[in-house]
Amino acid sequence: TAVDLGAHPDHMAKEIDEQPGVVADVLARVRHRTADGSTWVGLGLPPFDRLAVVACGTSLHAGQVIANTVRSLGGVPTDTVVASEVEHVVLGPGTLVLAISQSGETADVLRALDRLDDRHPVLALTNHVHSSLARRADAVLDCHAGPEVGVAATKSFTAQVVVGVTAVVSALVASGRLEPSRAVALVDDLARLPERMAAAAVVAADRVPLLAATVRDAPGFLFLGRGPGLPYAAEGALKVKELSYRWAEASPAGELKHGPLALVDDGTPVVVVDHGDPRLQSAIAEVRARGGFVVTIGGAGSDVPAVARPADATDLAWGRSVAPWGPIEAVVPLQMLARELALQLGCDVDKPHDRARSVTVR
Ligand code: G6P
Repeated sequence: TAVDLGAHPDHMAKEIDEQPGVVADVLARVRHRTADGSTWVGLGLPPFDRLAVVACGTSLHAGQVIANTVRSLGGVPTDTVVASEVEHVVLGPGTLVLAISQSGETADVLRALDRLDDRHPVLALTNHVHSSLARRADAVLDCHAGPEVGVAATKSFTAQVVVGVTAVVSALVASGRLEPSRAVALVDDLARLPERMAAAAVVAADRVPLLAATVRDAPGFLFLGRGPGLPYAAEGALKVKELSYRWAEASPAGELKHGPLALVDDGTPVVVVDHGDPRLQSAIAEVRARGGFVVTIGGAGSDVPAVARPADATDLAWGRSVAPWGPIEAVVPLQMLARELALQLGCDVDKPHDRARSVTVR
């Protein structure tokens, strides 16, 4: 391929490593246009009272993060819709459709837009500004992730989250739903993200190989999160499925007792995306009581009390995040864990055998 691997063993490793730089690059472009609403004004879209996010796969998880941000900061009713399910959804008046696709060519997303009522303006968030999606949309946001060669999305997810979050913050300022001073504080928080992601990568590089060796023979994995942590748990599970062909289920931590706990047995790996919510404690305790192997992602400084933390838990911790977009940096260790697991199982991480870069059939 045309993209030079440099010192990296594979494209996935390279693209995981590029994430702090991608975030810094995105922020350099949009930082000063976020807090005054001008990013949004520049898109030329009408104001919206509701938001519907339409996407598939990893892009859907980025959409869930963006939707959580809109709900928590602006109180705007927001739906996330699996693109292939769009015909079963009713969108109210004043709904803006945010269609997210790394490739801009995913058939399910394009078809979803064909099925929507023309009254709803469409904003595309894509890494390919000359794609079919970009042509179809009323306005386009460029992810600026750079070329992503690895089939499993990594840096494009992070770029979608940061571009999407800054755009909706800008929209909330422009519509008077968010104080500009609050928007400045939010952007300042995002500006620390490259450093936090790099720190997460250092901790994970140290611990992930042994962790993967410990869990690699497990037939299945459970990923738990809560609230803003949940899309990251879902993304961690998707990466394991895509790359290592193992069962991986993501569940809201509170839902564990309503079914998924039945899957937890002696040694079942349970990865908890810990964004500092003390209510995660009971899920961790339930898993431990059944002999599950708990891996917490993001525990340092967490409110999860130390007593709930088993002495032998494998803890990939680098600091706490309480932002409305949740623990973005958690995605780095999750990607690294899925990659390492796949490698130890002898899988090709750049070209999983049954995955395509973009799915142009439905
Ligand atoms: C495929 C890929 C996934 C990706 C999804 C959406 O299924 O294997 O990794 O998340 O398509 O792709 P898009 O280009 O629309 O973001």
